[in-house]
Amino acid sequence: MQKPLVGRVALVTGASSGIGAACAEALAASGAIVILAARRLDRLEALAHEIRRAGGEASCLAVDVADPAQQGMMFGQVGQIHGKLDILVNNAGILTLSLVADADTAQWRRMIEVNLLALMEASHLALPLLRASKAGHIVNIASDAGRSANVPAAGYAASKFGVVGFSQALRREVHRYGIRVTVVEPGMVATELPNHVTDQTLRAALLGRLSEVEPMQPEDIAAAVHYAVTQPVRVNVEEILIRPLRQES
Ligand SMILES: NC(=O)c1ccc[n+]([C@@H]2O[C@H](COP(=O)([O-])OP(=O)(O)OC[C@H]3O[C@@H](n4cnc5c(N)ncnc54)[C@H](OP(=O)(O)O)[C@@H]3O)[C@@H](O)[C@H]2O)c1
Repeated sequence: MQKPLVGRVALVTGASSGIGAACAEALAASGAIVILAARRLDRLEALAHEIRRAGGEASCLAVDVADPAQQGMMFGQVGQIHGKLDILVNNAGILTLSLVADADTAQWRRMIEVNLLALMEASHLALPLLRASKAGHIVNIASDAGRSANVPAAGYAASKFGVVGFSQALRREVHRYGIRVTVVEPGMVATELPNHVTDQTLRAALLGRLSEVEPMQPEDIAAAVHYAVTQPVRVNVEEILIRPLRQES
């Protein structure tokens, strides 16, 4: 049987670790030509090597998604090389935790730039390339924190509520071009994400919660993304909220 994504071009941001790396591997295993984007080029190249060793196709782009010029160059290159884009996985993200009262507001600003503004800009820049596809699809990785906000994650929740709202309006706008929009909202996943938390007490508390709930693995989220992008083009999986069995809130 032919692999379901043969001939599709997929760009995954934040592909150097965690959920993004797992998504890239899953899409490549189903035949997609994957473009891996993030800042750590060595990590991207190691993953691309693994994908090629497994018989897939992958290339790498060193990009800071918070820099609009770098994102512009990224989509320019995709257009030049492939002439279209079928799947964009907007996954790059960071996490900072603090009480609102104690916030380092520069960290909030950076988090909104990476988690929300960069995703909005990438969606905007990708539209012409997605319209050139017969199966254009944007998958935005939000969070369960984009559905229900907890202390001390007000800033992170704000960025992810933003992603959920943006995705809803985007879907309503672009379905007329045959472009699908899916928002995936994971609960706790075992990745490098806690490394961004600079407050050592909050970081230790987060790691404690992670070990209590038996977190999901990046592959679990990649399977959800894979499900959405392999449905018939008439089907738009709008939203996937996916959490560990033992995570209460
Ligand atoms: N882990 C969880 O529990 C969880 C739950 C819900 C949602 N999420 C979301 O899932 C997404 C992936 O996170 P993860 O858990 O897989 O964490 P991760 O392992 O830390 O991966 C984050 C990825 O984002 C990239 N990234 C960060 N800043 C970037 C920038 N300025 N430009 C380009 N790439 C950047 C990182 O690459 P470089 O550092 O190489 O640039 C890395 O590849 C995030 O949007 C996160 O909010 C995670």
